[in-house]
Amino acid sequence: MTKLKEATHVQAEKSAEHRVPAPCAMVIFGASGDLTERKLVPALYYLSRAGLLPDGFSVIGCAKTQYTDESFRDKMQKAVKKYLDLPDSDHEAVNAFTRDVHYISDDFGDAKAYDQLKKLLDQLDQQRGTSGNRLFYLATPPSFFPVIVNHLGAVGLAEPKEQNKTWTRIVIEKPFGRDLQSARELNQAVTSVFKEDQIYRIDHYLGKETVQNLLVFRFGNGIFEPFWNRRYIDHVQIAVAEEIGVENRGAYYEEAGLVRDMIQNHVLSLLSLITMEPPAIFDARAVRDEKAKVMRAIRPIPLDRLSEYAVRGQYVEGWTDGNKLPAYRSEPKVSPQSTTETYAALKLFIDNWRWADVPFYLRSGKRLPKRISEITIKFRRAPHLLFKGTGTTSIEPNHLSIHIQPDEGMSLMFNAKIPGTTMQIRPVTMEFHYEDAFGQTPPTTAYETLLLDCMLGDPMLFTRDDFVDLAWEVLTPLLNRWKEDGKKGLSFYESGTWGPPEADAFIERDGRKWQEL
Ligand SMILES: NC(=O)c1ccc[n+]([C@@H]2O[C@H](COP(=O)([O-])OP(=O)(O)OC[C@H]3O[C@@H](n4cnc5c(N)ncnc54)[C@H](OP(=O)(O)O)[C@@H]3O)[C@@H](O)[C@H]2O)c1
Repeated sequence: MTKLKEATHVQAEKSAEHRVPAPCAMVIFGASGDLTERKLVPALYYLSRAGLLPDGFSVIGCAKTQYTDESFRDKMQKAVKKYLDLPDSDHEAVNAFTRDVHYISDDFGDAKAYDQLKKLLDQLDQQRGTSGNRLFYLATPPSFFPVIVNHLGAVGLAEPKEQNKTWTRIVIEKPFGRDLQSARELNQAVTSVFKEDQIYRIDHYLGKETVQNLLVFRFGNGIFEPFWNRRYIDHVQIAVAEEIGVENRGAYYEEAGLVRDMIQNHVLSLLSLITMEPPAIFDARAVRDEKAKVMRAIRPIPLDRLSEYAVRGQYVEGWTDGNKLPAYRSEPKVSPQSTTETYAALKLFIDNWRWADVPFYLRSGKRLPKRISEITIKFRRAPHLLFKGTGTTSIEPNHLSIHIQPDEGMSLMFNAKIPGTTMQIRPVTMEFHYEDAFGQTPPTTAYETLLLDCMLGDPMLFTRDDFVDLAWEVLTPLLNRWKEDGKKGLSFYESGTWGPPEADAFIERDGRKWQEL
């Protein structure tokens, strides 16, 4: 369960930001689903409690399940209470928060639902002063993205109500396509109705404080940039580990697999932020230009030497805390012969001046020992072992760990002399934790930041079409090859372990090892 900190923290944030959007209506397609309940509704409540939602802000939920406005409000209230650990004093505020919520129940393919939606939006413009500003959020299975977009276009809801005076934006959830071709087709479908500057492709990882802090850390400090390159950095590791298995999402996961679910979006986004050149200015276009440039420089994965560049694995039975965990192939809606990967480790290179020949090791998996996301920058070893004569035979190279979740912060490992009369050396760490430094943990889901940015018209933390295209260009040949290979080359690992032994051998062949997480 996530925690909403005391209201005082919320107040602190409000006074620090003062970013309240113009009155608007938000339409959530897929309002009865998991994402809406677990992430969107708690995030909206957080914004509401912090005073960051405009007066008149209204929500319209759309999905197939039958709800009345009243029963949908009740569902939202329950979601807030379930997923946020609220002080009792908040209960009245939760009820007030759902006062302006409406619900339309219909099939996404039914045109009359969109006529009803248009009428309701016009009505809210009059009654609530939303004045034509609309945010459409597609929290639906991806197959419905083009269907909904086309219907919105057909009833005239894709165009801003009054050009230059009101705005209309659409948020599209991941996954954006399942390979290069499908992503291009989807892009074509969406851009035939909405303009690129109206489209917000969301990757919630980019809303996390630590991820945003990567830019501040790199470009807001003078001391790090000089050694942020091939001369000082030996290699970089990015790990996104999940403790859970596929839960009840077996059908989705069979189609997706780990690389589509995690690497194509979250992990490559992290890679781009760690490696991009400094933008000339801090705006959406300049930042996203640099991210795209670095993606364009990723060396294609050599398919003729694939085992040197990629490992894929699937979890089998295992134990954690005395509980037996099922194999992936025994999960609901998963084929008993499935070759879908639940773990992947990749080695990528970025062929540019800064990063030539520096390996980037990416790994991600389900049913690993803990939920943790971390970037580790491994620096080169000190060039000369000065302390040889003192009995010290080797010294650990320095590394910087950036903890994305759950304990947001950073730690720098360096070597220090153990106090005493002999010269003994031991690694120590210098730590920065968000909670210690700022007295508050970052917003709980990262959706808060992104929803607010979207209402404010700031697309910096959203994925542009060229980035999506380039990410699929890197990964589609690999995915096609794995599909052709079937079970050949698929490794297995026990649930609750750090992946298949082949993944250890993969990095150890290069004389390196995975950072302990
Ligand atoms: N869940 C997450 O944590 C998460 C995280 C990141 C991204 N995403 C992405 O977010 C999107 C939604 O995921 P989810 O987990 O919320 O899915 P979900 O729980 O399956 O919800 C799907 C929603 O779509 C509605 N729907 C499906 N078919 C419909 C139809 N023909 N007509 C009207 N409504 C229909 C469902 O309504 P009824 O149930 O009422 O039929 C439900 O509200 C997906 O693209 C997913 O990849 C999810």
